[in-house]
Amino acid sequence: MVKATAPGKIYLYGEHSVVYGYPALACAINKRTIVEAQKKNEGITILPKNLSFESVKFKIGGEEGNEIPEKQIKKLDYIRKSIKKIFEIKSEKTGLKLKIRTELPIGGGLGSSASVTVATISALNELYGLNLPRKKISKLAYEVEKEVQGSASPCDTFTSTMGGLTRVEKGKSLEKKKTPKLPIVIGYTQESSNTKQLVEQVKQLKEEYPEIINNLFTSIGEITKRGQKEVQNRDLEKIGELMNINQGILDSIKINNLKLSKLIYAARESGAYGSKITGAGGGGCIIALTDNKEKTANSIKVFGGEPIKTQITNQGVTIE
Ligand code: PMV
Repeated sequence: MVKATAPGKIYLYGEHSVVYGYPALACAINKRTIVEAQKKNEGITILPKNLSFESVKFKIGGEEGNEIPEKQIKKLDYIRKSIKKIFEIKSEKTGLKLKIRTELPIGGGLGSSASVTVATISALNELYGLNLPRKKISKLAYEVEKEVQGSASPCDTFTSTMGGLTRVEKGKSLEKKKTPKLPIVIGYTQESSNTKQLVEQVKQLKEEYPEIINNLFTSIGEITKRGQKEVQNRDLEKIGELMNINQGILDSIKINNLKLSKLIYAARESGAYGSKITGAGGGGCIIALTDNKEKTANSIKVFGGEPIKTQITNQGVTIE
């Protein structure tokens, strides 16, 4: 049996504007998806623990399985397509049993789909002794995300594979930077968000007010660059202040809502250095940079959110 674990991620700065090529900073967090893979005689069995679908069996190469409700199919698709990618590389196929569970909220903007994909591909890479390097695993996982979602940013799969801090910028290959030690608490609204829809909404706003939105995105780019310096200096006050400025812009492009706002202000009132949406917005999660994790977590809870205490991790995908 092989066990692979892959982390989720947060955006410190730069979501949405990154879609238009401006720089962004993402970090791996130590909440993981865990895949245990085992060979068996025939067929493929997937046993999810807390993903959004029930156990399923299908034939190798086959698409048949249990009746799965439409909206649950997607998460399974990441797993099926990951298996397919590996079977394209490895011609001799065996039956498989995969046990999968995650510590990440599903559809909460913390990169649960990337982590499930990276962990599945890595577990099978190890199980079949393929020796694929991390860069290749990250690339295959990105292809799977694109196939399932129609489009995707390589940021999530890269960060989940490599761990640490990722700088993303148009025209430059993704780079893993030195992993900072930042005390982070996440607040989950317990609502999922629809990234595709929110990206489209921002696009429409940008088409209506191109000069205004382009200037806002240029500012987010500057926030990211300055933020990266302050992360290197570990100046928590400045990192937090820049998160707050970034949040002001995210608010102005209409991806905020009452639940997210409550959690952002709950965190700030508890003494956090800074707090902002992470990911697409419209639901999902906020992040807070705070010295007092307990106090911030309690405050998030009082305002209706689910606190998730975590750290930034240098550890990308792991194999046991
Ligand atoms: O909510 P997530 O984790 O899917 O992040 C979306 C980030 C966006 O910048 C809005 C879109 C993207 O693909 O970069």
